Amino acid sequence: MAVNEQYKLLGRKVEDLRQKEDFYPTPRYVTQALLDNYDFSGKIWEPACGDGRMAEVLKEKYSDVECSDLVDRGYGEAGVDFLHSAKKAPNIITNPPFQLAYEFIEQGLKLSERTLALLLPIRYLTGKKRANLYAKFPPAKIIVIPNKVDFLGFGKPAMEFAWFVWEKSEGVRTEIVWARVKTR
Ligand SMILES: C[S@@+](CC[C@H](N)C(=O)[O-])C[C@H]1O[C@@H](n2cnc3c(N)ncnc32)[C@H](O)[C@@H]1O
Repeated sequence: MAVNEQYKLLGRKVEDLRQKEDFYPTPRYVTQALLDNYDFSGKIWEPACGDGRMAEVLKEKYSDVECSDLVDRGYGEAGVDFLHSAKKAPNIITNPPFQLAYEFIEQGLKLSERTLALLLPIRYLTGKKRANLYAKFPPAKIIVIPNKVDFLGFGKPAMEFAWFVWEKSEGVRTEIVWARVKTR
């Protein structure tokens, strides 16, 4: 039985399973989908690295990967609030805390010098406020993850995701691709 069903049987609300500071480590195949569909050049900053689940996969392809997180999860530099950072980096890649996803897009666009890649819910394609932002800063590539992503292995995941990749250049037209993934 899936963990969320067990939780309901215990009389608890599934929403209570929400992780503190939105800690949802990214399954390997989701990070691999980004690497299979996009090439970065130069230093990469993973600014919400958690326990390094995504960073470890990035490091298999790229040697210069710097990692930080607001919370000390035993990986990278702890206590770094991305939303209050002024440090720039050529490439910024992360799965942001979902409740701060919009703020991460805005800040990432300010701090990335070349590329910003964020794993976001597919529904982030819609919404008036976001549409206004995308009209100004259209993503260069959307990489759709074709299955719902089960971050915590609870079973029956509910949400679909895509990589949104922005390039800091003029005249960007958005390309959309569907990742071919192996979930095991
Ligand atoms: C969805 S998890 C992703 C972890 C990792 N990037 C991965 O994909 O496996 C989001 C992470 O953002 C961190 N976080 C939350 N607010 C933050 C902030 N303001 N600045 C930096 N990191 C933050 C959380 O501690 C958590 O580790």
